[in-house]
Amino acid sequence: MFAIRYPIVQGGMQWVGRAELAAAVSNAGGLGIITALTQPTPEDLLKEIARCREMTNAPFGVNLTILPSLRAISHAEFAQAIIDSGVKIVETAGRNPEPYMAAFKEAEIKVIHKCTSVRHSLKAQAIGCDAVSVDGFECAGHPGEDDIPGLVLLPRAAEELTIPFIASGGFADGRGLVAALALGADGINMGTRFMATLEAPIHRSIKERIVAASELDTALLMRQLRNTARYFRNKVTDQALAVERHQGAELTIEHLGPFVSGQRGKIVYESGNADAGVWSAGMVVGLIHDIPTCAELISRIVSEAREIVASRLTPALACA
Ligand SMILES: Cc1cc2nc3c(=O)[nH]c(=O)nc-3n(C[C@H](O)[C@H](O)[C@H](O)COP(=O)(O)O)c2cc1C
Repeated sequence: MFAIRYPIVQGGMQWVGRAELAAAVSNAGGLGIITALTQPTPEDLLKEIARCREMTNAPFGVNLTILPSLRAISHAEFAQAIIDSGVKIVETAGRNPEPYMAAFKEAEIKVIHKCTSVRHSLKAQAIGCDAVSVDGFECAGHPGEDDIPGLVLLPRAAEELTIPFIASGGFADGRGLVAALALGADGINMGTRFMATLEAPIHRSIKERIVAASELDTALLMRQLRNTARYFRNKVTDQALAVERHQGAELTIEHLGPFVSGQRGKIVYESGNADAGVWSAGMVVGLIHDIPTCAELISRIVSEAREIVASRLTPALACA
């Protein structure tokens, strides 16, 4: 469907999903994705897409995240910029992408909607999405409110969906790829793993912080607001959690705004100070032990997956 060599997608990442990373992933045979809202305006997004085209001839996509934001955003104008750019793959996430579907389809764009539940995946299928990315509870960013991990969510999605789906949340290596395919997915989507690559356009200290972290180093904020987000656990998430506990049922986004501001996250990536603000990361930080190039990472995942099938799965089932 996407004319890519390997079933490995780099999901949209605010401040991280820039042309350098998307091009590196696509050049390595995966599907790189530029994050639209990382750009200040739709015109800047057009320039970023043009920059990516200078770095790769391979297909790449654009993520459009439709969520309430502290910054005023015209999603319709960003959607139009994607259409005008001629990009043929869009990853939508957050709210229902239905308002933009007719225009995307008219422009022959393949739409992958990212969901965190079977019911939202079915809705995406019903409104004409070509594929869905199914994000388990492990994932970085917004895991939804159902708290169903991939081991149950993915086979449940496989039971219900007729369109292809990509497993997302908690993937970093060949073991994950084989598991995802076994559970019924058609490929994997990774966010956090791609942050710790040489081409990710963020400060080296943040990549090293990811490598040093364990699976216990994430925190969930905004649960009471039903807008749960998983972040790397740091001083700011600890402060925000204290505010949440203190406010209890009285909590509003205004209480958390100073902590969860996206602009502070941007400072983290630019300065390398992991405590300068909140920044998204998944539990999979516990499985990330190095900072390879995207090409090294993708080729390693594929060769590990082949090795697992040949050396573990096939012999394990050949007995008797
Ligand atoms: C730093 C970072 C920023 C992210 N920003 C977005 C975003 O703006 N829009 C979106 O749809 N998903 C975003 N995500 C989620 C990823 O696209 C992907 O669904 C998620 O990272 C998968 O979980 P994993 O990190 O365990 O691989 C972000 C993830 C990370 C790590």
